[in-house]
Amino acid sequence: MPCMDTLVVDHPLAAQLLTRMRDETTDRAGFRQASDELAGMLVYEAARGLETETIRVRTPLTETDGTRIARPPLVVPVLRAGLGMLGPAIRLLPDTDTGFIGVSRNEETHEPEPYMNSVPDDLDGRPVLALDPMLATGGSMLYTCELLAERNPGPITVACILAAPEGVERLAESGLVHTLVTASIDERLNEDAFIVPGLGDAGDRLFGTA
Ligand code: PRP
Repeated sequence: MPCMDTLVVDHPLAAQLLTRMRDETTDRAGFRQASDELAGMLVYEAARGLETETIRVRTPLTETDGTRIARPPLVVPVLRAGLGMLGPAIRLLPDTDTGFIGVSRNEETHEPEPYMNSVPDDLDGRPVLALDPMLATGGSMLYTCELLAERNPGPITVACILAAPEGVERLAESGLVHTLVTASIDERLNEDAFIVPGLGDAGDRLFGTA
């Protein structure tokens, strides 16, 4: 079976931010802020394997070697909740493009229902960074990765705030994902396919239910 590197970010600052997101008393502004900061840490780790190239740079004192990311990944937030991770991703990767994929999970069947896609037809080997705070059954992210895989991508990295073991296994089995970065692999899914202990519904906590 093709293997997927799985990195669970183990850091006191990440753990504290995740705790703030789990806490049901955290209000929307606090949840958004914690999500933004924690997603930045996940993107930082997700970018670790990117290829770099050397460029010359002039400091106020002399000229020296510097570094530039050779090919910034296409950033792909999975709507809606993935938008909560987009800000830090494009702050850290300012020269990159963003492709949007809209998928909502049917609340009864838990199957993904796509409604939007702005990813280019041919990615020409470009690396991809897919963002979604929740990897539950894995259906939404698997749909996303299958769609990306049809478009000639380079390595696909997935960053999720939280993952369930079921979703991690499903992504790994697909053979489509090079690396998964998450702040936690939680215990399990409940009967409604919500991650437990989890943090509730990330999309609703970020954006409300209107
Ligand atoms: C949630 C979440 C993921 C998906 C995870 O989205 O943000 O996209 O479900 O579940 P899965 O791994 O079982 O597919 P939801 O459908 O609630 O849409 P939203 O992002 O618009 O809130």
